[in-house]
Amino acid sequence: MELKLAIITVSDTRDFETDTAGAALKELAARKGWEVVSHAIVADERPAIESALITACDDEHADIVLTCGGTGFSLRDVTPEATRAVCEREAPGIAEAIRARSLEVTGRAMLSRAVAGLRGESVIINFPGSEKAVREAWGFVADQFEHAIKMLHGAGHQDTLDVR
Ligand code: MTE
Repeated sequence: MELKLAIITVSDTRDFETDTAGAALKELAARKGWEVVSHAIVADERPAIESALITACDDEHADIVLTCGGTGFSLRDVTPEATRAVCEREAPGIAEAIRARSLEVTGRAMLSRAVAGLRGESVIINFPGSEKAVREAWGFVADQFEHAIKMLHGAGHQDTLDVR
């Protein structure tokens, strides 16, 4: 199943030269044979993040929208708030899984306030901002993306063979 991914890097300082986390996500998506429909870099500002999320979901029709960065405790970190504002339904299990598995790697994982949710037929997932964290988070959840999108498109469990 080919999925359409949108990547939104949230950072006050990164550009396309220095965004190694975004580049890592592109590489990981390509390895799965999934299409990256857009890669945006926006500042740690709620209006900019919300607008990028809405474009990815409503205009680009991305199946999975991955944000990286802006989930920590700094007063500029507002990615979870922006994500909640544009989501119609929460999908807490995805963020719970990333945090639980990440805690096995580093105690600092508890400092990510990342959330996940659904807007229309898109799944929005917050990843932390470092390349290392992004690669780890991807490894913990990407295997469930195809099943998630099948379910979101209305497939019943009986329509899917792989229920792992
Ligand atoms: N999760 C994983 N898997 N690996 C990591 O190295 N770093 C943590 C955490 N989650 C980390 C992680 C750190 S140090 C912080 S501060 C928070 O994510 C928030 O990061 P962010 O502000 O870049 O989103």
